[in-house]
Order: sequence, then structure tokens, then C-alpha cells
Amino acid sequence: MPVGGFEYERPASTRALVVHPALKHPGVRDARRGRSPENRLEEAVGLARAIDLEVVGAEVVPLGRPRPATLLGQGVLDRLAAQVAEDEIGLLVLDGHLSPLQQRNLERALQTKVIDRTGLILEIFGQRARTREGQLQVELAHLTYQRSRLVRSWTHLERQRGGVGFLGGPGETQIEIDRRLIGERITRLTRELEEVRRTRGLHRQARAQVPHPVIALVGYTNAGKSTLFNRLSGASVWAEDQVFATLDPTMRGIDLPGGRRVILSDTVGFVSDLPHELVAAFRATLEEVLSADVVIHVRDVAHPDSAAQKADVDSVLGQMGLGPDATVPVIEALNKADQLAGDDARRHPLPAPPEGAGEGPPVRATVALSALTGEGIAALVAALDEVFDENRLSYRLELPTADGKILAWLHRHGEVVAQKTEDERLFVTVRLDAANVGRFSATFPEHSLRPV
Ligand code: GTP
Repeated sequence: MPVGGFEYERPASTRALVVHPALKHPGVRDARRGRSPENRLEEAVGLARAIDLEVVGAEVVPLGRPRPATLLGQGVLDRLAAQVAEDEIGLLVLDGHLSPLQQRNLERALQTKVIDRTGLILEIFGQRARTREGQLQVELAHLTYQRSRLVRSWTHLERQRGGVGFLGGPGETQIEIDRRLIGERITRLTRELEEVRRTRGLHRQARAQVPHPVIALVGYTNAGKSTLFNRLSGASVWAEDQVFATLDPTMRGIDLPGGRRVILSDTVGFVSDLPHELVAAFRATLEEVLSADVVIHVRDVAHPDSAAQKADVDSVLGQMGLGPDATVPVIEALNKADQLAGDDARRHPLPAPPEGAGEGPPVRATVALSALTGEGIAALVAALDEVFDENRLSYRLELPTADGKILAWLHRHGEVVAQKTEDERLFVTVRLDAANVGRFSATFPEHSLRPV
């Protein structure tokens, strides 16, 4: 799918080969994070599948010494070229960083389209950015990436436009025209992005009037966020869910088992080594998390890299302002517990304390569960209920008459602990959490709650 109308080349064939180049002497960071090349390859395959590529082959290629021109050595190139031809591969995903020149040389040598990790992640973000701001951010990142490819890989070619250039001035090379067009588009997008940001305040206000707490799901890619999102939504999506779907398609209004009405917000999955072009785009899609009432961090505890994944997620959350001092309650959903062997492990999967722990927000509760089988979901809902209850304070409200609409609202969002009539006026004592106090004021501006 082109991002925001920008035609990104996508090969007609979606048969893909995924190659993870593994340095024989890995950098300090990789060694510290403890990810094996096999796990990294598996992640790359998962990412490739996420954009509907048909992965027909995947392998780790050990790299003794990266070649400046092609990254990979000649022997590997010959072998891959043969495989590309034989298996009719339309795309080679190289799970690493390629310079524009390397990308070009590889495409020539292998006779197929090649994208690197940044290109792959750009595709994924392009498909998944659901807010206008997210889409614009991804398109900007795409163009910046594209421009750098143009500049460095084409300058030596100096393709001259024949005849009188009506697009560019006389003598303007193709590369200059392309660069200028991209530059213009970047300027336009930047302006549009500013406009979207300005209106975001209004969007927020509209959201504040939605009288229900927001639960944001975050987690590493493939951790099971969407599965949990669907499991929690189940059959209990509100009829008026459409309202939220138009406000923001990543949000869904649901009644939790037990009756609590909440808004669930899904976010794009985290990946390791996010290309720097994409950090801003990624953060825009995470904005939701900052204003959530509760964050559920979905973790794949059956994954061998579970601890490193948590460290990655925590580190990003910390950089966004949700560090150790954050007050938003975080619940860790230890997902895919069904894949762990033994009942005990399933009930108490306690992965080793991750490197970099302490960068993210404090965890209020952890719940072992399986979004796939439903095991542990009741415990998660109970943990959510507890978090909401803990944050409640008592308020008193005076009503001229028994206003059915207000009373129903209070029963739904809080706990009505006392109710008595005096001199034909109704006095209600209710326990509400801070978010719902704000929502009450927005919904019923003519009434005020007094703390008890
Ligand atoms: P991204 O969109 O890439 O961020 O992924 P996600 O976090 O939304 O993960 P998703 O829900 O798409 O699940 C990824 C894969 O894990 C799917 O194949 C799911 O079927 C599987 N999965 C999710 N939850 C569970 C679980 O509890 N147990 C098992 N065994 N598999 C699960």
C-alpha cells in the first residue's frame, strides 16, 4: 500500500528471502542484549510476514569482514543469486543496514529487489500507521530515506535529462530533479504535520469527554497485543463503538467481564534497533499511551529474548516520559503462558530480570495468561478492577432531584456507597478515580463533586 499516496516500489512478486548477516565479532550492544542471530532472524521473518511477504527461505549468514561494496562476500552472493533464480524470489530482505551503494550493488548481483531493515520497518509502519499524524510521520521518514538513497547512489551516474528540461532548468540532472521534487514534498508534509498537531489538541478534548477510562496496550512486536485486544473485546464491543472507530480506529469501547466500561487502545509493536528515521513516527503512534489511565505491557514470556524485549520496551517508554517516576499504573501481561512447560511455570513464569530494568515505569501487577486460550484472562480483568478501585477517592454530590442519568453514570463508573434524601434533595457519596472525576465534570459541567 502506498504511504499517503507516495508510490513506494513494491515488487510484484511477494516471494521473499530473509537474510540476517551476523558479524562473527558482534558489537558490545548486541552481545550485552544477548540476542542470538537465530532469534534475530526469526524476528525479521516475523516482520516480513507481517507485511504479507511469502517467506520461502531464511538464513543467518556469518560475516567475517563486511565488504564495503556488497556487504556480503562473493561466495555467498553466488549462492544467493542461484537461489533467487531457482525459487523465483522477488525480494531479498537483508536484516541489517545497507548503504545505498551496497543496496544497489546487491540488486545487480542478485537480480532482484533488495531492502534492508529500515526499508522493511518503513513498510510495516506505513501499513499500520492509523492516525493521520502517524501516516504523515511515516511518509516523511520514507522520503528522507529515499532522498539519502538518491543522493549517494546516483550522483556518480549524473543521468542527464535529454532535450529542454521542462521539469527542471536546462542541464538539471535527473538526480537533481528527483531530489528537488522530494524536497518539495518534504516541505509540504512538514507543514501538514504541523497543522495536524495543532488540531490534535481538539482531538484530545473530544477524547476527554468520552466518559470512560482508556487502557493502552503496548508490547514488543508479535507479543500478542492484537490477540489480547480481540480476546478482551470478545463479544462485548459496544454498539456505539463506531464513534470511536471514527475518532481513532485503534480504539475500541468494550465492557470488561464484570461490567466495567473501558476504551482499549492498541499501539504499533516495538522492534529492536528502530531506525532513527522512524523514531518520531513511532512515538506519534505511541502518543496514546501517555494519556492512558492504565497501561498493559503485553510480553511474550515463551520467547527466549523475552527479557531483552522488555528492556527495549521499557527503554522507549522511559524516553517518552514513562520512567521509574511515572504514576500511570502498569500491568504486565505475561502472555503465551500456554507455551511454557509445566503447570508451575505457567502460573509463575518469572523471566530473569532484564538488562536495563529500571528504565521503564514501575509495574503494579503481573498476570500470567494466554490470549490464545483465554487462560488467565479473568485474573487480568481482576487486576484491572483492582487498579481502578485503588485509585478511587470518595466524593459527595448534591442533586436537586434523583437524576436517573447522573445516577446511572455514577453506578457505571464508580461505586455509590451512600445515597439519602433530605429536604427533597438527594445526597450521594461515590468513590471515583481521578480520571472519572475529570470525565464527570466534562459530562455534567453544571454539577460539582466535593471530596469527602
Ligand atoms: P504486532 O502487530 O506485530 O505488534 O504483533 P502483536 O503483538 O499484535 O501480536 P499478535 O496478536 O498478532 O500475535 C502474534 C502471534 O502470536 C500470532 O500468531 C498469535 O496467534 C500468537 N499468540 C498470541 N497470543 C498467544 C498466546 O497466548 N499463546 C500462543 N501460543 N500464541 C499466541
